[in-house]
Amino acid sequence: MSEVLKNNWYLVCPSSDLDNKMRTFKILSEEIILFRDKEGNPIALEDRCCHRNVNLSLGYLKNDRPVCGYHGWEYDKSGQCVLIPSQLPDNKIPPKAAIKKYAAKDYNNWVWLFAGNPDEAENYSPTDIPEMKDWPFTYKEYIFEADLESTAESLIDPYHIAFTHRDSIKQLLGQIEEFPAEFHIDFLEDGIKGSYKRSNKGNIGEKIYFGSHDHHDVNYRFYFPNISRLETRFNKRVLLILEHVYQVDDSHVSMTQITLWQNIFPKFPLFAKKFMAKKSDTIVKEDIQFLVSQKKHYNKMKDEIHEVSVKGDEVSLAFRKFWRSKLRGE
Ligand code: FES
Ligand SMILES: [Fe+2]
Repeated sequence: MSEVLKNNWYLVCPSSDLDNKMRTFKILSEEIILFRDKEGNPIALEDRCCHRNVNLSLGYLKNDRPVCGYHGWEYDKSGQCVLIPSQLPDNKIPPKAAIKKYAAKDYNNWVWLFAGNPDEAENYSPTDIPEMKDWPFTYKEYIFEADLESTAESLIDPYHIAFTHRDSIKQLLGQIEEFPAEFHIDFLEDGIKGSYKRSNKGNIGEKIYFGSHDHHDVNYRFYFPNISRLETRFNKRVLLILEHVYQVDDSHVSMTQITLWQNIFPKFPLFAKKFMAKKSDTIVKEDIQFLVSQKKHYNKMKDEIHEVSVKGDEVSLAFRKFWRSKLRGE
């Protein structure tokens, strides 16, 4: 697994969702337990007991110590084993009886995990998306069989919207008016920035609500390696779709989709949340079916992938080139 991907902070859940119970995550094949200790700090340890290699998450937490469910070995917050029930009190605990610790922290109201060596963690920082601090939001995590690069690439693909999302975004946010679309894109040190326009072809109800101007400006940002941000503005109303993706293992990808908004149904916050959650779920599922289908065909083709590309694929091809060079650490 690429070191570049390991040395990155990954968003895992809203800070308010983490309490003094063990939760599990798998990032880049690392199985991790996460809980909030009594002082309020997120603690992340390897989900493995070093005695006989079983998942610690099959056990339980006792005073901030994960206890293995098999023979009861207990670990402290640094991952050191501190109690072995089968030993007499004067038997020494082998210093090697320890598991890996990971860096974890709260940032902008979400919990983030650093997948690499924790000593390196302070040299990196989570991606700052200030709207995550206080905008209303809804979110959901999806895990599915797909290719990480293709998933990241799909987040930047403007032409799939009118087709993949013909029953969701196309209606709600308008479609790209012309083909080929006027699509501006800049490659930056930490990712990609772009913009394009969509024509407003919503139904009457949506037009009354979102306004009757004929275009929406869509601003796109990709933060290497794994976050995309799509911002659509309708005068004062703003809709922000964030997608955080990471490799779970060799064949699966996790995508946490966070939808945030401002000035949309402000008098009916609960309705807004329900409405956004439903729309977002539809949109993500529309994408996932294609990513899963693509992965199945890629698997069959193995190392020789046949694809027919045209001029309109420029953005996707440029993205691939950028992605691969960044992965190599260039
Ligand atoms: S396997 Fe965990 S205590 Fe034995
Ligand atoms: Fe999509």
